[in-house]
Amino acid sequence: MAAAKAAAKLVRGRMVVGLGSGTTVAHVVRILAEREINATFVPSSFAIQKFAAGRGLRLSTSDEYPKLDLMIDGADEIDPNFNMIKGRGGAHTREKILMSASKRIAIIVDRTKLVRRLGERRPVPVEILPFVQKYTMRRLAELNGKPVLRMTRERMPFVTDNGNYIVDVKFDSIPHPAELEEALDHVPGAVENGLFVNSADIVFVGYEGGCVVLRSKKDFLRFMRSSKLR
Ligand code: A5P
Repeated sequence: MAAAKAAAKLVRGRMVVGLGSGTTVAHVVRILAEREINATFVPSSFAIQKFAAGRGLRLSTSDEYPKLDLMIDGADEIDPNFNMIKGRGGAHTREKILMSASKRIAIIVDRTKLVRRLGERRPVPVEILPFVQKYTMRRLAELNGKPVLRMTRERMPFVTDNGNYIVDVKFDSIPHPAELEEALDHVPGAVENGLFVNSADIVFVGYEGGCVVLRSKKDFLRFMRSSKLR
């Protein structure tokens, strides 16, 4: 994937780099593992930790490195203001923490993840405490969303690396992501939600013709309008 290759070039010298979770970041890890690299990586999930360790990357923790130079991550949806929905893999709580500690945030997506308004396709994942599952789901429904407890193939509740559940809340549309993020933050029992408001600094978009780098809303809208998207 050209976009993953381009983003991997941001990793230089002795940088400390946060790793998001998911298939896109796994791809970046594969690319980085082919290079001679001095950087240290802080993983956001057990899965990416295991994957990166298996490919020989030097790993550490956010306790060891409270400040990161760069965070590399994927997204489920991204809008022109670089607001995102994340958490399809259930790792958004740790991803959000690492992003808040990072000087620069690079997001890699394919063009199907670009949306004019968040919520067009994906629900917002919310990590909740199992202790108050039903009550929290009722409170989430009061925000005009349709909450569904995420289940595994074995029909058991999906459990995050933090020992919590995930509720996927589908909203018809999310016109004001910052307001919804704040409202979700105030739901008792909700640990963290998958709305990331204005979080990305640079977005690498992969498409059939290669990769385009978006640094602003203008870039985003121009790309949306371009024939590449039709
Ligand atoms: C992990 O919980 C998510 O936030 C992922 O970063 C996001 O879902 C993107 O995943 P993919 O890279 O697998 O599309």
